[in-house]
Amino acid sequence: MLLFDMDVVRLFPVLYLLLAAASNAHPLSGYPPGVEEQLLALGDPGSSPYGSLWPLPQAVHTCSAILYVPPAEFTIVHGKGSTAGPWCLVLQDAFRRYYDYMFGRTRGKAVPVSGESSDRLVQLQVIVTSEDNECEEYPSVQSDESYKLVVDDNGAIIQANKVWGALRGLETFSQLIYEDSIGAHLINKTVITDFPRFPHRGVLLDTSRHYLPVKAILKTLDAMSFNKLNVFHWHIVDDPSFPYQSEVFPELSDKGAYQPYTHIYTFTDVRLVIEYARLRGIRVIPEFDTPGHATSWGKGEKDLLTPCYKADGSPSGTFGPVNPITNGTYKFMSDLFKEISFVFPDKYVHLGGDEVDFSCWKSNPEIAKFMADHGFGTDYRKLESFYLQQILGIVSSFGKGYMVWQEVFDNHDQLNPDTVVEVWKEKNYKEEMAAVTAAGFQALLSAPWYLNRIAYGQDWIQIYRVEPSNFTGTAKQESLVIGGEACLWGEFVDVTNLSPRLWPRASAVAERLWSSKEVTSIEDAYNRLVQHRCRMVGRGIAAEPLYVGFCDHEDNI
Ligand SMILES: *[C@@H]1O[C@H](CO)[C@@H](O)[C@H](O)[C@H]1NC(C)=O
Ligand SMILES: *[C@@H]1O[C@H](CO)[C@@H](O)[C@H](O)[C@H]1NC(C)=O
Ligand SMILES: *[C@@H]1O[C@H](CO)[C@@H](O)[C@H](O)[C@H]1NC(C)=O
Repeated sequence: MLLFDMDVVRLFPVLYLLLAAASNAHPLSGYPPGVEEQLLALGDPGSSPYGSLWPLPQAVHTCSAILYVPPAEFTIVHGKGSTAGPWCLVLQDAFRRYYDYMFGRTRGKAVPVSGESSDRLVQLQVIVTSEDNECEEYPSVQSDESYKLVVDDNGAIIQANKVWGALRGLETFSQLIYEDSIGAHLINKTVITDFPRFPHRGVLLDTSRHYLPVKAILKTLDAMSFNKLNVFHWHIVDDPSFPYQSEVFPELSDKGAYQPYTHIYTFTDVRLVIEYARLRGIRVIPEFDTPGHATSWGKGEKDLLTPCYKADGSPSGTFGPVNPITNGTYKFMSDLFKEISFVFPDKYVHLGGDEVDFSCWKSNPEIAKFMADHGFGTDYRKLESFYLQQILGIVSSFGKGYMVWQEVFDNHDQLNPDTVVEVWKEKNYKEEMAAVTAAGFQALLSAPWYLNRIAYGQDWIQIYRVEPSNFTGTAKQESLVIGGEACLWGEFVDVTNLSPRLWPRASAVAERLWSSKEVTSIEDAYNRLVQHRCRMVGRGIAAEPLYVGFCDHEDNI
């Protein structure tokens, strides 16, 4: 049964898709419901009319006329009239990187060169047109990432308003280069006009449940740039450990990290991550989640957490969420967020606010008194709201905007109008997107993109099928959806399995957030993603396979 199905898939992939969709039969008994859907696009990948482009640009015109690209002669240069020059670190670094991705493998080897000199492409010109090219700035949610790319008889030109678009164009150009059977490099004549559908396209990494070495984070940033993802949401601390080394409160990581010297992020580490990300057009948004998820904070900061009580009214010796009723808490938070606001240049900080367990607060007699004094009755959501209101005020006072998990929206009403609400609960997430945007807040979708959850088979398909605007609401509401995030929570993820779990599954999210809404063909996506995944492998990313097959270059992992 299994073999028969595989043959059908291999020989007639489209027919199989149709047949499988039309029938309710479970082709591979023994798998949980839903799995058969993930097994649909198996089989040998075909070729896509778009080559190996990923994510698919907004408009691609390509033809079968080819140019040979001789690595030894090829250069990437600042084009005539560009406002950027050799002093623009973002581009200088990118030129070197992309030359290496395209031809690094050939270094020191005799590379076949085919074609007449008239069919050769020997130069890529990069032209940044805006006077304010943003070479020295950090990317933001407003960054212009659009670009135009032309490869024709006159050469190759990338034109972009800002450096950010130039970076995206370089990635696209590198994806157009391929090798023929004797190893010569080719490119088809092509015209591409491109821009992202959503401005916020993120990946969340959790460095508390397992510490991730800085090198693994940098590698993730590389892979993000191959997928045109542009926000690193750094869930840096949580209950299990506090690896962020604070200058004002060094005890937090001295006592709260798994290991106070080896398993921490120093100021230098953090700055390295931020600069590495900037050079790839990626924002770094740190998350300091409170009042729940803060157990590790309590080890290095006495009296920060709420003491819990036993039923008989005596202290139990355990601690709950951050204590919201002491002035010391707010003094501490103010000093800490002052530092954080300085260390992380992005306009936004993520303040968490999810999954607050009220049982400890309920057990504590001083909290009961505070509740009574403030007229909160027994509604502990009002206490949580009171706490978050102070924190939001503190963070605003340092000129930052904030992102929060959906509970903060669900339980509280006084949010700044520019708050970004991240929808994460899978149940009824469409209704939640509708509610958040109806209230006028910007929304980020991550509920269907918890990539720490894995399933047998090709689960990238269901990740890919998600449509962020698929909820009931007006056009104005739809416009408040600013993007989404692929989240990789760390319970079962450390440096050993980070890359294969994230890639290429996060690539499915990347295309959904970059490409046009009309780009929905699973078959075409499969044909391109197989090649894109091999490209990531060739560039040193341990991206897992989609199905049976091989990559030309697998020796770089
Ligand atoms: C590029 O050109 C080749 C050779 O003419 C052709 O076979 C191939 O389909 C073209 N690729 C794309 C993506 O158009
Ligand atoms: C905490 O601060 C408030 C407001 O500034 C003040 O009224 C109150 O007395 C302070 N409480 C303590 C215990 O210092
Ligand atoms: C939108 O959601 C509905 C139900 O929630 C589903 O039936 C439909 O297939 C979805 N459409 C798209 C384009 O995702």
